[in-house]
Amino acid sequence: MTGTDLPAATTEPAMLGVEDRNGPSPITVDVQLDQSAWSTHLADQTEEGLRDDPPWIPPVWFYDEPGSEMFDEITRLPEYYPTEAERSILAEHAHDIASITGVETLAELGSGTSDKTALLLDAGQQSGTLNCFSPFDCSEEVLRRAAAQIAGARPGLDVHAVVGDFHEHLHAIPTDGVCVIAFLGSTIGNLDETQRKEFLANIADTLDDDDWFLLGTDLAKSESVLLPAYDDRAGVTARFNLNALSVMNTELLADFEVGEFRHRAVWDAEASRVEMQLVANSAQRVRFDALNGLELVLGAGDHIRTEISTKFTREQVESELAEAGMEVQRAWTDSGDRFLVTLSRLTRQN
Ligand code: SAH
Ligand code: TRP
Repeated sequence: MTGTDLPAATTEPAMLGVEDRNGPSPITVDVQLDQSAWSTHLADQTEEGLRDDPPWIPPVWFYDEPGSEMFDEITRLPEYYPTEAERSILAEHAHDIASITGVETLAELGSGTSDKTALLLDAGQQSGTLNCFSPFDCSEEVLRRAAAQIAGARPGLDVHAVVGDFHEHLHAIPTDGVCVIAFLGSTIGNLDETQRKEFLANIADTLDDDDWFLLGTDLAKSESVLLPAYDDRAGVTARFNLNALSVMNTELLADFEVGEFRHRAVWDAEASRVEMQLVANSAQRVRFDALNGLELVLGAGDHIRTEISTKFTREQVESELAEAGMEVQRAWTDSGDRFLVTLSRLTRQN
């Protein structure tokens, strides 16, 4: 793709989207999420989760605008080591990643503010191969802001943002030329085993023989390091977690008494994951007017599971990738061996 061509995806009939063009660096925004279908999907998923025992909710209720800002604050907390650990790996190896892959299109799933991604963009642009960046997120406002900011700062880079669900819309990634699909921040750890299997199989289906998958995963470590990362002293993670209740009050016409819940992070050693929970301080009866009047009944001390954060070994990451048909070509950790970044491609090369 060149700087003057429209990204190929904009001509696809499947695109529901809006297109913005402003300034010298073109931005396209491909909106794959049809708002009403997405709302129905989330409502169905939430209802299914709330009827489970213990009840759980999908993570997407975290990332409204205030929630996304709080997540950004989490990434700067002293206890929350993953962001810094991953950033240090990218800082050291972004040039290797650019030269090994010859990246022309960088797609980033669950991109959020794309903060650390600047390191990859710098390296790709400096090596002269990168011409398109495709941030992909379900949170439209945050995505639009990040896309505009990056396009403004990087003349000559096509920015092709995709508002989509990475479980559904990977086909919207523009895979022209050599594509690197990045999935950073150990967001993969927020998927359970079944979801990871399906997600990785979809990634393998999306990759061409000359494309790459760059994955950031948090490594298993001592509970004394893990738990504070999800239960910080300043209480930012607690506010972030509780915010999901306010979002459901608005979006699902629910009547959570937010002040009657508290945040808890629990380490499940067997499943190798941190579980984020919201615990009811007293007996609660919560109505969801947008979920066919569903009522959630909780006793004092009962909890809702809001998120999991799986912690991996390098072997497990390699084997899950292998099972999906991908092979790790390079793997890097930070100096404290806390975080892992792997660069993979399809196993069978011509
Ligand atoms: N990559 C960033 C942000 C991680 S937070 C980092 O490394 O810090 C997770 C991001 O994934 C949020 O921006 C959230 O909006 C997005 N997200 C969560 N579920 C998603 C889904 N199903 N499809 C697309 N984006 C999703
Ligand atoms: N991907 C991040 C992680 O698992 C998401 C995250 C960080 C998170 N802190 C959180 C999710 C607190 C819910 C609650 O580390």
